[in-house]
Amino acid sequence: MSNELPYGGVFADLYNRRWAWFAQQTAPRIEAFYASRSAASKNRSMLDVCCGTGQLAVHFLERGFTVVGIDSSPYMLAHARANAAQWVEAGTARFVQADAADFDVGRGFGLAVSTYDALNHLSGPDALAACFGCVYASLADDGWFLFDLNTELAFRTRWNGISVQDDEEAMIVSRSVYDAANRVAFTKLSGFLRAQDGRYDRFEELVPETAFDLRQVERALRAAGFVSVAFADGADPQALTEEPEAKTRVFVVAGKQDA
Ligand SMILES: C[S@@+](CC[C@H](N)C(=O)[O-])C[C@H]1O[C@@H](n2cnc3c(N)ncnc32)[C@H](O)[C@@H]1O
Repeated sequence: MSNELPYGGVFADLYNRRWAWFAQQTAPRIEAFYASRSAASKNRSMLDVCCGTGQLAVHFLERGFTVVGIDSSPYMLAHARANAAQWVEAGTARFVQADAADFDVGRGFGLAVSTYDALNHLSGPDALAACFGCVYASLADDGWFLFDLNTELAFRTRWNGISVQDDEEAMIVSRSVYDAANRVAFTKLSGFLRAQDGRYDRFEELVPETAFDLRQVERALRAAGFVSVAFADGADPQALTEEPEAKTRVFVVAGKQDA
């Protein structure tokens, strides 16, 4: 079986099994950041933009947050709903199919997040600015928005090549290329994933990513209304950096009020 939709069925299964580690690793660090803000004492609601298979949401649900996750892939959302089933049933988690550049799933969130370079998936600065507008409108007056991005340095230094992973569960061939003139990177992922009956399903995915200019990202956040914008290490939103373009991954930390 192959699939053509972005983050399609077989690939979503593979993602759920192999790539939740980034969300799981960064969730406690995002939580620690939010705990240090005054909003955290009274507002325990989180918006997860491009929530994927929902493991980050589960971290916050386990700690008493209410969560709304949005994602464009119905297959990723199906995993998110299954991973967070007890909270979906209890009414404290909701996963909605929506475009990150055009959504409205409610207001008053204390925290909005987007992890594992999900916002690099947006088609360009206009889509990113539209996303910032939607997030800004979703947040409470003292809310925070944290997201990570692959920087241009990552695409320039890491995106040209082929890699193969091959084990009992899956074979994954990853081919990537970076078009510096247009600041767009492409990764083609193809291969096979073992299904429950022991047979293998084929997947093929083309994942485009935009290499955003980080000064332009800051300007777009301020234009959306955020008054506090800072860059931090891609593994820890509390480790601020003055030279974000020198890193391969950064966290962007934006507040509706001063820090
Ligand atoms: C790399 S995954 C990250 C998932 C999750 N945030 C994590 O940390 O594991 C990127 C996700 O973004 C979603 N996505 C890509 N473009 C999107 C868009 N325009 N609107 C909403 N979701 C999008 C994909 O379906 C996928 O689930």
